[in-house]
Amino acid sequence: MSEKSIESLSESEAAEELKRLAAEIAEHDRRYHTEDAPTISDAEYDALARRNLAIEERFPDLVREDSPSRRVGAPPAEGFAKVRHAVPMLSLAKAYTDQDVADFIERGRRFFDRDKDLDIAFTAEPKIDGLSASLRYVNGVFVQGATRGDGAVGEDITANLKTIADIPKKLKGADWPEVIEIRGEVYMTYAEFEALKQRSAAIGGQDYVNPRNTAAGSLRQKDPAVTASRNLKFFAYAWGYTTADPAPTQYGSVQKFAEWGFKVSPLMVRAKSIAELIAQYHRIEEQRSSLGYDIDGVVYKVDQLELQRRWGFVTGEPRWAVAHKFPAEQAMTTVERIDIQVGRTGTLAPVARLAPVTVGGVVVENVTLHNEDYIKGFDSNGQPIRDGIDVRIGDTVVIQRAGDVIPQIVSVVIGKRPADAVPYEFPHTCPVCGSPATREINEKTGKEDSRRRCTGELICPAQAVEGLRHFVSRGALDIEGLGAENIDLFFNAGLVKTAADIFTLKDRRPAVTKALAERREEQARLREEASGKTRKNVRSVEERNYEGLDKLFAAIDARREPELDRFIFALGIRHIGETTAAVLARQFSTIEELIRVGKETAKADDPHTVFPSISGIGDTVIGALRDFFGNERNDDVLDALLAQVHPKPYVVEISADSDVSGKTVVFTGTLEKMTRSEAKAMAERLGAKVAGSVSAKTDLVVAGPGAGSKLKTATDLGIEVIDEDTWLQRIGRGG
Ligand code: IVH
Repeated sequence: MSEKSIESLSESEAAEELKRLAAEIAEHDRRYHTEDAPTISDAEYDALARRNLAIEERFPDLVREDSPSRRVGAPPAEGFAKVRHAVPMLSLAKAYTDQDVADFIERGRRFFDRDKDLDIAFTAEPKIDGLSASLRYVNGVFVQGATRGDGAVGEDITANLKTIADIPKKLKGADWPEVIEIRGEVYMTYAEFEALKQRSAAIGGQDYVNPRNTAAGSLRQKDPAVTASRNLKFFAYAWGYTTADPAPTQYGSVQKFAEWGFKVSPLMVRAKSIAELIAQYHRIEEQRSSLGYDIDGVVYKVDQLELQRRWGFVTGEPRWAVAHKFPAEQAMTTVERIDIQVGRTGTLAPVARLAPVTVGGVVVENVTLHNEDYIKGFDSNGQPIRDGIDVRIGDTVVIQRAGDVIPQIVSVVIGKRPADAVPYEFPHTCPVCGSPATREINEKTGKEDSRRRCTGELICPAQAVEGLRHFVSRGALDIEGLGAENIDLFFNAGLVKTAADIFTLKDRRPAVTKALAERREEQARLREEASGKTRKNVRSVEERNYEGLDKLFAAIDARREPELDRFIFALGIRHIGETTAAVLARQFSTIEELIRVGKETAKADDPHTVFPSISGIGDTVIGALRDFFGNERNDDVLDALLAQVHPKPYVVEISADSDVSGKTVVFTGTLEKMTRSEAKAMAERLGAKVAGSVSAKTDLVVAGPGAGSKLKTATDLGIEVIDEDTWLQRIGRGG
């Protein structure tokens, strides 16, 4: 293959080649997935995919809708079974201008020329920027769900899809076809994306670039519990194989979906004319930034299913639908500096400081550059990475607010690069404390972590102060009146160095008063400067601080006996978020026991000989506990802290007087309002015994849909059988 270097490609050559690569890679995907008969080696395949990616990186505007890099699930990851779609999952033709939309409608009119008076109606609805999924319902029960994959064959991700609340396990009503594949988009809201990013940053976990990729990653988790924790959403908008049309029209069908229990876009309308379609396009565009999730256009579809069928398909696309894309809100600016921020777990996070510029009505001055590899555009093996971009100080960049919210750099205008711009040298020492900053090797994958971390731990002021902020934060000790600002103040004044110092602040009252007073003075001075006015009648600082300070000290005292899970979370051990902290609390009951097991685990050659096997706790967490409890520097900090704070032992309350106390209960079939383990824990808390099989000793059987032999045995033995709702009512949780 004679290939031109990517640098020397013109835009039209690039477009041509991307088109060729999309077709070529799609063909290899088909041979690989559908025929199980690949004709090229994996390495050759990877080379094609890499070239495609590298061209896209240089020409981000040319990324095709059918680009292999956008295709989710191809090739299917190991571990997921393949599912052949009974009806292929298609893509959509694009329209960029009003004229394109007019042409689409005109093509329809011409096609249906024979019926001159035919009234063609259309639907208009948002094009959600997520991942499409196909959900198979048999007799109203969700039986299988798959990704789009290459359109013909996807991956079976049923277990993961079942964790999405918007996807009903059973359809409501009764007028659904015997078999129907509901199709729609799985997506992640900005709020959820930001929350996940923060949770991950708080525990030194991985980085997430945008909601769409994150939703894709979340769907392809081996452990459905991880998918569940991501709170993905789903909109239903189409269907594949079905034994009967849901309704005679597209609009009517989607209304049916809503009746059957799906979420459908509230912005879908039916329209007759191009003017109405374009009006809806603008209405949706106006709402785009307040929706809370990414959309990238408006989809128009012929409404009458009869006409859809007559108009039919071209390769891979229906003729009767088109996606009218939004122009991206973009702006050009320059990179003035690249700053490095150091997080609690020592992550060096690069931020580009931009000459301020307005994008879609919002001034953007900073944009995250994610990590070292992202800035280079290559990973440590020299492979181009997805979304990576070689950004240099002085560069002119095109920025865009992804889905109008999170600003990102789309491309660098190479033509405007200053002659003296050099590739950014990512620091190998911490800019705050000067300790070496290193990239760890992930034990499981053998790959280098994309983030560089300061190794200074508590000697690094940035890590120390972030650790203190975390300690008092909401899910942790949650000390009222002691937020990030006060922590910074006390830390900088040398009043609080470690968490234990918070609890002895009261003993240093004069110094605390002084620090607060100085800050007030400073703030007042700044305000004066800004307004040009001088103050009169200043109340004495002592007088004003007194009351607030007593409240603060009282709030600190109120947290001397925190719940164990909060306390464990507050310690800020890497990879231990609130959920894991709660699991550890439940397992070990007291902080002393956790410390004992943690230290022994740290000493053992093989941690598994000491650390019990606990569902939800894997090697990453065990490794983090080993590091933490094996680090002698932490001993002093922890001892000092435990001299001040006494975490409450974790006790499972057993109430002896509940209706089910002392009874033996068996759960069978599908539970819809809780997981099996939740149900078991709840029953046990109420004093019931939970058994796995039905016998004469069983008092009560809670049966959900799909219950089989256990239900039969129970009926044969004359044991009381109730459904999940009745159970919840009986234990006082019913609505
Ligand atoms: S309809 C036969 N409706 O866009 C028509 N697709 O470019 C099939 N998408 O793979 C799709 N929102 O992932 C349709 N309201 C919407 C959509 C939508 C997003 C995605 C979907 C599909 C891609 C096609």
